Amino acid sequence: IVTNIRTCSKPKLPPNPLPPFYCCPPMSASEPINFTLPDPAEPLRVRRPVHAVGAEHMAKYERAIALMKALPPSDPRSFYQQANIHCAYCTGSYHQNGNPELDVQIHFSWFFYPFHRAYIYFFERIAAKLLDEPGFALPFWSWDVPEGMQLPPEFANASSPLYDPVRNPRHAPPKVVDLEFVREQGENNLTADQQIQQNLRVMYKQMIGNAALPTLFHGQPFRAGEADQPGAGTVEMFPHNTVHTWTGDMAQPNVENMGVYYSAGRDPTFYPHHNNIDRLWVAWRDIGASRGYRGHVDFTDPDWLDSSFLFYDEEARLVRVTVRDMLDIEKLRYRFEGVGTPWVDARP
Ligand code: C2O
Repeated sequence: IVTNIRTCSKPKLPPNPLPPFYCCPPMSASEPINFTLPDPAEPLRVRRPVHAVGAEHMAKYERAIALMKALPPSDPRSFYQQANIHCAYCTGSYHQNGNPELDVQIHFSWFFYPFHRAYIYFFERIAAKLLDEPGFALPFWSWDVPEGMQLPPEFANASSPLYDPVRNPRHAPPKVVDLEFVREQGENNLTADQQIQQNLRVMYKQMIGNAALPTLFHGQPFRAGEADQPGAGTVEMFPHNTVHTWTGDMAQPNVENMGVYYSAGRDPTFYPHHNNIDRLWVAWRDIGASRGYRGHVDFTDPDWLDSSFLFYDEEARLVRVTVRDMLDIEKLRYRFEGVGTPWVDARP
């Protein structure tokens, strides 16, 4: 799949959406430039969990969001446009090159991890640029470890730029997140401790028990000329989708903002949430390497490696990024720190 900006048009939105109703990025007069890796001399960004990164760092994330929100909506680095990136790639705004009846949709397929990695890579660099702090690292919401299993309180303060009024009021902190939350079933009746134990078992199942092969973890191949959404990987379904639904407001027609693709990026929790997803991709490979699980490896199929997506970088240049570009986080100059994987032995 090769994304072409000129194929972007009206999104296919669910019934009764909340405005805005258009998601394509600003058109660029020039052709996209190809992605190049950051300078190896660049400081390594250390991404830490929201619950342990400290107030000073969270104040920076808050300021970065405020600065993005203050940019004019025509600026591709504005919060408005950053949120729209998700909408455009997830609602059939983009069409396949040469196959206008077929959509580019990055969910429910093997593009789930690399697309979102690239998305938050640029988001983080834009934040760093606006803060004028080259090493700024995006914090992650580690809902997979007990200390992180609630909406981080920083996001629930109504006067913060991290606040989003379109969320489930029943799930304000300190409510423990339910990693199996689905709209149709609603609340369960577990105690906080039972919920934590259950969440750890869900993590084991999705990261290890059911994820022994690349297609199981990443999702099914999606190639040019094929219909979108061939099948999601384990973690995309649970807890990725479930945390989205748990955070969104059930009183809205489509569980906006976090609970539906077109509006999820409008909530500042989206980026720390996806940062944790990115960390779990690293964890899945590391667990495979340390335990000798030979299926915990990425695809080597060129249809995956050579697929590409478009993003605007911190200088507002349109950049073409391939999946291949996104496979080595050290080369992308960041790493994860500050939290373990307490679910590795939580066999159900
Ligand atoms: Cu693109 Cu969390 O969904």
